[in-house]
Amino acid sequence: MTQAATPGSMPATTGDEIDLDVVRAMLAHIQPGDHQEAQELILAALQEVNEHFGYVSLAAAEVVAEHLGTTASRVYGLLTFYADFRTRPRGKHFMLLCHGMSCYALGSQRLVQELKDTWGVADGETTADGELTVQVVNGCLGVCDRAPFVKLDADYHGDLTTESFNEVLRRTIDAGGSWKDADHGH
Ligand code: FES
Repeated sequence: MTQAATPGSMPATTGDEIDLDVVRAMLAHIQPGDHQEAQELILAALQEVNEHFGYVSLAAAEVVAEHLGTTASRVYGLLTFYADFRTRPRGKHFMLLCHGMSCYALGSQRLVQELKDTWGVADGETTADGELTVQVVNGCLGVCDRAPFVKLDADYHGDLTTESFNEVLRRTIDAGGSWKDADHGH
């Protein structure tokens, strides 16, 4: 599982590429009725930004704070507390690797090891060539009958062996494209 940093602290981001006007436009539909509701909507707002851009930059978190009339440190706190949020850009391809109970029982640890040995990437990291970012998910992705299971960009792959896992990764990277091609519709 991605280790969450201490709530309230915020890892430095480099090369902020998030267009803040787009963030503002995205948040426009989130209109809390009062302060309490605004607090409750912080996570939803962060989720939208994270889904759309693949991460939430420091500046984007500040726009969320501004929009919801809360402090930037409150938003950073939530952002760093929940491991699902990324604070740095994703690589070209994005993998969620299920490490829930069924996947674990059927060998997800082998896939995690394979990522380290063959691809040089661990949970929360991006390969040196920027092709692949991996996130290990400790909760169940809901398809245990296909364990061990990963979601790679828009595609789902189950019943994976080390061989088929490497094959899927190679094929996806060779095909080009990126996680951005996936449908992020809610
Ligand atoms: S534990 Fe992996 S899909 Fe359920």
